[in-house]
Parts: sequence; structure tokens; C-alpha cells
Amino acid sequence: MITQKIVETYKFWFNDYVNRFIKEYPDLSENIEIKANHCWQVRKEIIGIIQNLKLNEEESLLAETIGLFHDVGRFKQYVKYQTFSDSKSQNHAELGVEVLKENSVLKDLSDENKEIIYKSILNHSRAEIIPDENEKVIFYSQLIRDADKLDIWRLITEYYMVKEQKTNKTLELELPDKEEISDQVYKAILNNKLVLKESMKTLNDFKLLQIGWLFDLNFKYSIKRLFDKKYLDKIFDALPNNQKVNEIKGIVNKYFKNHIVLSY
Ligand SMILES: [Fe+2]
Repeated sequence: MITQKIVETYKFWFNDYVNRFIKEYPDLSENIEIKANHCWQVRKEIIGIIQNLKLNEEESLLAETIGLFHDVGRFKQYVKYQTFSDSKSQNHAELGVEVLKENSVLKDLSDENKEIIYKSILNHSRAEIIPDENEKVIFYSQLIRDADKLDIWRLITEYYMVKEQKTNKTLELELPDKEEISDQVYKAILNNKLVLKESMKTLNDFKLLQIGWLFDLNFKYSIKRLFDKKYLDKIFDALPNNQKVNEIKGIVNKYFKNHIVLSY
């Protein structure tokens, strides 16, 4: 059974694990710390989402654990390849599961809980959740995907505000900062579809991909929180003011209108 006490040991392990990277790679510490902070914030976002879902203590602790560990593969990925782009390095979710297994982090948990954690981590960065017989896997995958997006929106909108003074190419996935918006990206959004990572060619495409995450949110709470935090307005502020972007703004506004009114 997963208990509060076990989760405390996970938090301790996670901090210790991250600190080892910071010590060994002081020159890379800035992005290591950004990712570590992201993991803690995603844990908080998950707690926010589940607050209204009436989970029992064990279910909540499992969600919290997935939040904290979902990106544990980022540290190895970054020190080895100095990128957060999976296509230029390796799949960070698979790497994360490997890290947890190598270190026997989840040794006190039942096989079922281990499987839920591993599969949710693997699902968090996929274009879509892989069908699974176990409904719990689907549920926790939906939770982590929403929580992850909510915190990335926080992180990147903070970044876009200071980008001109303090450029961080890693956070931009080293994409060229050109005016251009790729057709495939634009069309996906027009169809209320998630933008595929493979179709991104420019930083503007990446910003639109982040806007398109809206269509993939699973919980009404997340849509409401995204709306309240105005994250998408902030991304639009960082995009050029042209016809394509204005059209997308219209689509986003319509989506919010249709989905937020319904949630009251
Ligand atoms: Fe991730």
C-alpha cells in the first residue's frame, strides 16, 4: 500500500537525485533546476485537479507521486544530450521509467501501483494515451497530462516575458525563431486537434502547439484554470499579429466559451 510515509521518502529521494546532478554538472544547473521545479509544480497541479474528484488517500498519494516523478528522466537526458528535445536525443518518459527501475525507487509498492505509475509516465508525453484494459491507467494518465500542461504553460509564459533579455535555447527546443507558421500546425488547430511534435519547424509552431494543448485537456477544472491564469493570452502576446494567428484566437475563444459555460 502507498502511504504518506512512503511518499515522504520519494520526495527525499527525488531531491537527493536532483542534487547529485547539480553537483556533478554545475554549468548545467540552471535547466536542471527549472525541470526539478517543474516536477514539484506538476505535483501541486495534480493535487489541485484531484481536489474535487473525491479520491481516497491512497489514490491521491499515487497521483501526487506520478506528478513528482513524471519527468525524472529529464535530468539524465539533459546532461547526456544537453537538449529537452526527445527527437534529438531519446524519449524522456522511457528514460524516467528506467531511472525509477534502476534505483528500485518503487520497491515498496504493489505491482499494480507500479504499473499505473510507469504507464502514466510513459503516456504523459505521447501524442495520445495508449488504450489500456486498466481504467486506472487511463485516469492517472489523464491527470498527469493535464497537470503537466498546466505547469508548462506557467513556465513558458514566464519565459516568453523575459525571452528578449534572457534567451534559453533549450526551452525553445533549439527551434529557429522565424516569423513562419507551418501549414500542418495551423491546420491542426483549425480542426481543434493536437499539434504533432513532428510537424514543428519554428518557434512559432511550438507556441501554437502549446496553445493547441487546450483541446487535449481532460478535466473541466484544468480548462477553467487555464482560462483564469490567462496563459493562452500570454502566448498570443508572444506571437506575431497576423491573419493566421487572429483566426486561431477566434477558435480558442470559441472553445473556451463552449467548454467553460458548461462547467458551471
Ligand atoms: Fe515530460
